[in-house]
Amino acid sequence: MLPILLLILTVSACNDSPYMQGKRLYTVRCANCHMEDGTGLSRLIPPLATSKLMGGAAMACVIANGLRDTIFRDSVYLPREMPAFKGLSSTEVTNIINYINHTWHKPFTETTILEVEEALKACP
Ligand code: HEC
Repeated sequence: MLPILLLILTVSACNDSPYMQGKRLYTVRCANCHMEDGTGLSRLIPPLATSKLMGGAAMACVIANGLRDTIFRDSVYLPREMPAFKGLSSTEVTNIINYINHTWHKPFTETTILEVEEALKACP
């Protein structure tokens, strides 16, 4: 009986989010600025759900190269900048993007590692 119960618990825990590595990376690398729920921090950090970069691989360039002075709000650019995450592999970047989109962007379509690698090659 106990092994069956454990199996059920494990399976339902996995179904909770299919992008566990992405969730873990988001929690460690991104949540301290963009917050656990992706809503950002008032006039300092932008929310993710409403970003034009949601829904595909385009976000990869921002993650890999960082971003500053692109978001204009209340007649000034946001004063903070986003750091570049140079050390992440394209698999890790893909997992983060899929976690974010699966959680905050509807309808969700999965982004592939190939799409992320193409996007990274074409970064400005
Ligand atoms: C040190 C704080 C900080 C961390 C950590 C951080 N960001 Fe950001 N992020 C920012 C700031 C500030 C901006 C806005 C930059 C600007 O004004 O151009 C931003 C912008 C963005 C944007 C663009 C939003 C838009 O509307 O265009 C995305 C997407 C994003 N971040 C995703 C991430 C992801 C994914 C991670 C983790 C890998 C992350 N950020 C980690 C501070 C941070």
